[in-house]
Amino acid sequence: MSRLIVVSNRVPDIGKGPPPGGLAVALKAALEKRGGIWMGWSGKSSGSKEPGPLHVEDRGGITFALSDLSRRDLSEYYAGFANSVLWPLCHYRLDLTDYARKDMAGYFRVNRFFAERLRPLIRPDDIIWVHDYHLIPLASELRRLGVENRMGFFMHIPWPSPDVFLTLPVHEAIIGGLTAYDVVGFQTKHDATNFASGLEREGIGGDAGDGWMEAYGRRFRAGTFPISIATREFAELARRAVRTAAVRRFADSLEGRDLIIGVDRLDYSKGLTHRIDGYEKFLAANPAWHGRTTMLQVTPKSRTEVPGYAAMQREVAESAGRVNGAIGRLDWVPIRYVNRAIDQKVLAGLYRVARVGMVTPLRDGMNLVAKEFVAAQDPEDPGVLVLSRFAGAAQELDGAILVNPYDIEAVGNALAKALSMPLEERRARFTPMMQQLSEHDISRWCSDFLDVLRG
Ligand code: G6P
Repeated sequence: MSRLIVVSNRVPDIGKGPPPGGLAVALKAALEKRGGIWMGWSGKSSGSKEPGPLHVEDRGGITFALSDLSRRDLSEYYAGFANSVLWPLCHYRLDLTDYARKDMAGYFRVNRFFAERLRPLIRPDDIIWVHDYHLIPLASELRRLGVENRMGFFMHIPWPSPDVFLTLPVHEAIIGGLTAYDVVGFQTKHDATNFASGLEREGIGGDAGDGWMEAYGRRFRAGTFPISIATREFAELARRAVRTAAVRRFADSLEGRDLIIGVDRLDYSKGLTHRIDGYEKFLAANPAWHGRTTMLQVTPKSRTEVPGYAAMQREVAESAGRVNGAIGRLDWVPIRYVNRAIDQKVLAGLYRVARVGMVTPLRDGMNLVAKEFVAAQDPEDPGVLVLSRFAGAAQELDGAILVNPYDIEAVGNALAKALSMPLEERRARFTPMMQQLSEHDISRWCSDFLDVLRG
């Protein structure tokens, strides 16, 4: 069996830090099975003008190859082009894109740097799987260095419609980067179609049928591979978590109120202020629910070095404070807002305790919180998922109450419907979703992609 090389900007601390998430677990299993290398950024700055040396370390049969990046790399490649251009662009926030030639040059430079460091580690029959928008040009840089191995790319975030994508001044270089792969994977059919229409609009290629696309005369496989979670393990985690002291203490503190839960990185794509406004609308329209429900919003800080994020941090805190100040009572706080990460096991337990999961991003590649929320439910008495139609997960989780997150009143109405939904309907919605997640879990996602990549 050929070895697998995974490359991603972030590399989980497998065997070191807290237990890794679903993606890390699945890729780790694939790497252990075949033997392989996981390369990426160490998560640290070298503190100087140059990137740090390559740290190579074997842990549990996997070779980790990590580099500290220089301050300039982090500013141009990570905070700059990846997170101030590609991220807002792919999430339809043209107002937040901040394009600068020097950041674009830094993005390509860091990709070349990773390619040069990876080159000597590659054996002829290795297969290479590159992840996410930070590393689109990696394959073309490797090809330039003579690497002929099979290479696949998976885009974890949305691919925008041509009207949005073509505003990117270097869109040709990005498309050209993708054509160097043998397989390009998207989360949903919609993303793949957007990509193909962009090629057609520019007259440089398009969908070539039968799972193939073509651009600049080069053909590559393209398909949809909706990412998932370790469904069985997560369900089991949630089942055990509700018995832990931390989750019990929290459940007691609700004093019989129905819990609405939201868990999102602090990001403008997540629609946090819209969600809080929707909850406020719900409370304003339904005074009978005052004192009978609590919304818990867990929002770890994220990308604080990128300008749009600091503003978002303030706005979310202000919105939550406004609702609590206006509607809260001496004995009832409508929103509990936690601005830091919470242990995964505790989260799983909170999902199971909750009556409603609110996953209302304005735009999201997939959204695994939606899937985890479903997997965490008690099949006998499941909670209800309120899900944005603009999350990739909405393509699969049709037992959710689907909402347009921009329509604040609709979000409020969805909450009212979710909170008063009878048990029978909750079960009827939950069962097919759970079945979908059990059949299409993260290990299936991983093997589906690798089967196509192996060719
Ligand atoms: C999204 C991206 C990932 C990224 C994660 C956290 O899920 O698709 O590639 O790792 O956000 O963002 P960060 O910038 O902290 O890596």
